[in-house]
Amino acid sequence: MTVQPRASEPIVVPVALPGRDYDIVIGRSLLASLGQRVKSLRPSARVVIVTDINVGAQHLAAAEASFKSAGIDCTAIKVAPGEGSKSYSVFETVCEAVIDSRIDRGDLVIALGGGVIGDLAGFAAACVRRGIDVVQVPTSLLAQVDSSVGGKTGINSARGKNLVGAFHQPVLVVADTALLDTLPKRQFRAGYAEVAKYGLLADAAFFSWLETNWQDLFSGGPAREHAIAVCCRGKAGIVARDERETGERMLLNLGHTFGHALEAGCGFSDRLLHGEAVALGMALAFEFSARRKLISPGDAARAANHLAAVGLPVKLGDVAGGVPPADRLMELIAQDKKVKRGQLTFILVRGIGKAFVETNVNPADVRAFLSEKIAQK
Ligand SMILES: NC(=O)c1ccc[n+]([C@@H]2O[C@H](COP(=O)([O-])OP(=O)(O)OC[C@H]3O[C@@H](n4cnc5c(N)ncnc54)[C@H](O)[C@@H]3O)[C@@H](O)[C@H]2O)c1
Ligand SMILES: [Zn+2]
Repeated sequence: MTVQPRASEPIVVPVALPGRDYDIVIGRSLLASLGQRVKSLRPSARVVIVTDINVGAQHLAAAEASFKSAGIDCTAIKVAPGEGSKSYSVFETVCEAVIDSRIDRGDLVIALGGGVIGDLAGFAAACVRRGIDVVQVPTSLLAQVDSSVGGKTGINSARGKNLVGAFHQPVLVVADTALLDTLPKRQFRAGYAEVAKYGLLADAAFFSWLETNWQDLFSGGPAREHAIAVCCRGKAGIVARDERETGERMLLNLGHTFGHALEAGCGFSDRLLHGEAVALGMALAFEFSARRKLISPGDAARAANHLAAVGLPVKLGDVAGGVPPADRLMELIAQDKKVKRGQLTFILVRGIGKAFVETNVNPADVRAFLSEKIAQK
């Protein structure tokens, strides 16, 4: 499969949720027509844009100009960048600012930013006046392929990430791929781990395509829109079949059990970004699957080699400052997971593109595996 030339029209991926269906519109330079698109969707709505300072500095003026030219009244709220903004105090600030801007139930919140803004603004929209509709305008690769789709919103508790939140599906997602040109390279790469995840969990042909075309995606060629559309179609299908994550949606957590433990072990700091932890987690999930003779060592090596080729970490020794000991990682895994009858649930693979939910993983096997990997570095 080769990269097709850039389509002149944006790609539209529908999310089929009965009574709450919406479109994900993907294309280059869509911010300029955002106002028009919102006008067609909700002719008399006013909007309040929630963004962070980094994204605001680059793209808020263009978003405001787009609303202005469509004749839409808009105000903006800027918060500090980073995970720290998914807090009770910033949530309160955003809710109060939305209320102050006299937005009511027929109006719209626009989440202009990465996953932090999508989760924070989405949750504020879910709560203010018992629910205001939200349009997601994701500006990071992670947000364009993952967090803006599927309706999970929320903030962090002192006891863990994303523990306070709501399902609140957006009414529209507009993914302007040109916005990713200003995203720091490391953030782009981390988001790419979630792109590779869709191939690794359910679509072997897409994974092969990524092995050939990833550079075009990084440099902003037409592969970028294509890859984002494939990921959104994959997630949209899963979300439509299992919105509340009782079954199939769990597969999207491939690499996330090991990943979350490593992320928490590094204190959710810049030492290891979420996507980097997911890359490591996926490499470990593949190796662990090989260990259980579910796949060949060659398949595990192929997954890790591709992630390493784009510059993502795949070995515990790649983590700056090292990782916590196996016992600590096991504590963190147990916190993240429900232990049922003494067994852990993991997303494992029977091949590239063949992930499944394994409910019978013995914690002692995981501990031994992690100790070995830590010793190898
Ligand atoms: N709701 C979901 O389903 C879901 C899924 C996955 C992740 N998440 C959440 O998403 C968050 C991570 O998202 P993220 O990786 O996008 O982090 P982020 O929102 O913090 O963005 C990363 C950094 O890039 C900056 N940035 C974003 N877009 C930019 C642009 N176009 N130009 C310049 N700078 C830009 C941000 O200011 C920030 O500093 C986590 O809180 C995670 O829990 C949610
Ligand atoms: Zn993730």
